[in-house]
Amino acid sequence: MERIKKDLYEQGIAKILVSEPAIDAAVMRIAAEIDRDYSESEKSLLLLGILKGSVVFMGDLMKKIKTPLEIDFMKVSSYGSGTVSGGRINIILDLHRSDLSEKDIIIVEDIIDSGRTLSYLVDYLKLNGAHSVKTCTLLDKPSRRVVDFVPDYSGYEIPDEFVVGYGLDYDEQYRALPYIGVLKPEVYSD
Ligand code: IMP
Ligand code: MG
Repeated sequence: MERIKKDLYEQGIAKILVSEPAIDAAVMRIAAEIDRDYSESEKSLLLLGILKGSVVFMGDLMKKIKTPLEIDFMKVSSYGSGTVSGGRINIILDLHRSDLSEKDIIIVEDIIDSGRTLSYLVDYLKLNGAHSVKTCTLLDKPSRRVVDFVPDYSGYEIPDEFVVGYGLDYDEQYRALPYIGVLKPEVYSD
């Protein structure tokens, strides 16, 4: 079964773009940056993961941050299906908390593409009274920006290729891969 799963996965992957050790290094670096910035804050830290893509990164990152923190999640949709962005943001799972004015929020994302999701969410959370809002992404495709957006914490800038693994999916597949891989174009071009 393990072997079959592995073969199936690997049929679709053209190459590994970010290896497990490279991901670990980015997680360690970002956790240290967050500790440097928040360990003295008088408000409390809330890591806000964006479902589903951020869950693997979120799980690894939260273990390496030494500053006490809470976690929460929102779910939004911007991509329709496949590899084409839908353009507008819908909130599918909202935050139901009344303590945002006491929170330093760091939104945790898997990847920034057009920039629409994170710029929308930063505005949304500020409008809802968050004390502060910063953003953290494992991957960034700056060449794809539609709206001006620069994350506060970022793992790696990558070229304009559709990637999967470590939480990122193509039509809900590949999320469990431990590395970031580039999908073979034939997987999604037909
Ligand atoms: P943005 O709003 O265009 O910045 O889109 C960000 C979202 O698009 C991410 O949270 C992902 O869900 C999705 N996305 C963008 N690029 C990729 C990719 O290469 N692989 C998988 N998902 C992606
Ligand atoms: Mg996502």
